[in-house]
Amino acid sequence: MSNNLPSYLSISTSATQDLAQKIDHLQPDKYAFLVDEHTREFCLPLLNLDKSLTIEISSGELNKTLSTCEYIWQKMTDFGFSRKSLLINLGGGVIGDMGGFCASTYKRGIPFINIPTTLLSQVDASIGGKLGVDFNGLKNHIGLFQEPNAVIVDTVFLKTLSAREFKSGFAEIIKHSLIQSSDQWDYLINTPFEEINWETLIPRSIQVKNEIVTADPKENGLRKTLNYGHTIGHAIETYFLSTEKPLTHGEAIAIGMLIENKLAVQSGILSSNEEADIENYLSEIYQDRRKIPSYEILMKYLMQDKKNDNMGIRFSLLERIGHCAYDVLVSDDILKEVLK
Ligand SMILES: NC(=O)c1ccc[n+]([C@@H]2O[C@H](COP(=O)([O-])OP(=O)(O)OC[C@H]3O[C@@H](n4cnc5c(N)ncnc54)[C@H](O)[C@@H]3O)[C@@H](O)[C@H]2O)c1
Ligand SMILES: [Zn+2]
Repeated sequence: MSNNLPSYLSISTSATQDLAQKIDHLQPDKYAFLVDEHTREFCLPLLNLDKSLTIEISSGELNKTLSTCEYIWQKMTDFGFSRKSLLINLGGGVIGDMGGFCASTYKRGIPFINIPTTLLSQVDASIGGKLGVDFNGLKNHIGLFQEPNAVIVDTVFLKTLSAREFKSGFAEIIKHSLIQSSDQWDYLINTPFEEINWETLIPRSIQVKNEIVTADPKENGLRKTLNYGHTIGHAIETYFLSTEKPLTHGEAIAIGMLIENKLAVQSGILSSNEEADIENYLSEIYQDRRKIPSYEILMKYLMQDKKNDNMGIRFSLLERIGHCAYDVLVSDDILKEVLK
């Protein structure tokens, strides 16, 4: 199995030992940990290494900005970081994306290691080399592609994650199953959530993402299937971001998958039986039953999506479980009909 994992990624049962080994191999002149207040409290104590250089930022997507980068670059400068210094990003996708971006641009690029500590960052954000920050409200607007020197995935970190954050990452596992692995989907629907074996499911889900990004690193084709659920999902996520009750990324993506499946059925590419099976499963896991914004409001957000062109909105839609089409143009009539 492990041969389908990215070469830089190791599934670990002792993050300390694996990290020590990587440091030994890289021989940096110094290294620092990038954490937020949660990963400083819950994750850093699990690493039994010298932590004298630590950079702490405030958690949350709102802090994934260039001004936080300036703070990180300043800290690295204060620490006397050279091109041979190492940044270790210990946290969720925000820390990984932003820490990787800061490392890759500091003195034109220094080594960095990601230790993802959320389910979402373990199965998704840490694979594929996309790094960056948000800019003037535009998500991941500034960034680059650069693979980390190492990624260490250890499920021990997940124990302190809230149930809600855990389910947020689970949406990406569901997505990976639906677009590429009907076997994994069969496992999910036949296994009660509480009985899922995460030690095997997480590496399998990483494999799916890795196979896709390896085949199409720069998103010219196949990689677009990873956007399944995300076109509508992002619009919904952005809409609720400015309300009192934001959704987690995964909650928004779950709704996105549900709605995009309806688009696929209406467009005649997915069977309504499979659509119903997926809806049943998703609504069991995600219990939030809020009203989604109207067609008019969603269209406003959809039109801002960077994946659109002048032909209209293109979707990645399921053709059947385990297989996803991309660049599917959906007519405005169908969009209107479904979003009603
Ligand atoms: N690069 C990519 O390919 C890619 C893919 C998907 C998502 N992303 C990015 O990832 C980000 C979302 O990642 P996320 O969901 O991990 O969010 P996050 O990094 O904001 O983490 C979620 C929350 O969990 C806390 N946390 C982290 N680890 C913890 C632990 N072990 N115990 C307790 N609390 C912990 C964090 O402090 C934070 O409050 C977004 O910015 C998104 O754009 C990137
Ligand atoms: Zn996602």
